[in-house]
Amino acid sequence: MSDVLTVRNLTVRYPNAPRPSVQGVSFTVPARGSVALVGESGSGKSTTALAVTRLLDPAVEVTADEVSFEGRDLLRMGKKELRALRRGGLGMVFQDPRASWNPARTIERQLLDGLRGAERAERRERLVARMRRIGLDDPERRMRDYPHHFSGGMLQRALLAGVLVHEPRLLIADEPTSALDTTVQAELLALIGQLRTEQGLSMLLISHDLGVVARMSDHVLVLYAGRIAEQGPTSTVLAQPQHPYTRDLLAAIPRLHGPRKVPLQVGRVAEARTEGCPYAGRCRFATDRCRTETPAPRRVGGTEVACHLAPLPDAKAA
Ligand SMILES: Nc1ncnc2c1ncn2[C@@H]1O[C@H](COP(=O)(O)OP(=O)(O)O)[C@@H](O)[C@H]1O
Ligand SMILES: [Mg+2]
Repeated sequence: MSDVLTVRNLTVRYPNAPRPSVQGVSFTVPARGSVALVGESGSGKSTTALAVTRLLDPAVEVTADEVSFEGRDLLRMGKKELRALRRGGLGMVFQDPRASWNPARTIERQLLDGLRGAERAERRERLVARMRRIGLDDPERRMRDYPHHFSGGMLQRALLAGVLVHEPRLLIADEPTSALDTTVQAELLALIGQLRTEQGLSMLLISHDLGVVARMSDHVLVLYAGRIAEQGPTSTVLAQPQHPYTRDLLAAIPRLHGPRKVPLQVGRVAEARTEGCPYAGRCRFATDRCRTETPAPRRVGGTEVACHLAPLPDAKAA
């Protein structure tokens, strides 16, 4: 099967940053596949998405051996071609539903502006159909409302409708439901899943939530401090994690039964080491070698893991 998105050896460094925010990241999104990027806040997930979609400020240093969409070089693509791509094959949704909308213009105007080609009436028709499909009641009337009349969940649905009307082949979704409450989040995820199957979409899903990743992806990359700690089929990575960080992430998920787990300390990613394994400072298995030598990714079990110690002595997840 062909790949929709190919990223090879991506490194991103913000101006004056002490170290790259993304370093040596490689992955592919196969046609109709769903790949997730997971990791704590600050691990470089959004930066990866922004680099791939060319939404970073030009002052940010982006290097890669390859970043391509359906075989076309995204890093060297001109502005015009990029714009056409964003209104075509490549769709994006981001975390904050309010930030994506202009409060002073109606939902309809904003969505119609993004649609090219056909007559206004026909474009409107297509939008109304999508709006109905994403569960907006009485779309003809509601589309004339302003964003503040919509709930966060409805705004995110409307945004999704506005993206899907372009019939993208790849959807990049950066924490699309993180700002929403749990019920709305579940509904929206279910909808994205359905639309994905219906439209044969590929997806790059970004989330800090392993529950979301488990439901929505077939391959997962675990990022820590801008590097891939582990990647593999989602079911394998979650069932038999090889990297101590993946185990710690899994152990930090609140459970209904059993002992309460201590959550990972957030905000320490930025202090990650510049030499050796980035996780060495937090890893309970770390050795001297981990503190000095950066581990290269290796196949262990069913996953690819950047850890000197894999497979770990205790086979069961922490
Ligand atoms: N505009 C920016 N300028 C400088 N550093 C940034 C900027 N945006 C993000 N970073 C840094 O890059 C790292 C990764 O951030 P980000 O990609 O937003 O992580 P995530 O999406 O996983 O939470 C963090 O250390 C963050 O502080
Ligand atoms: Mg982010």
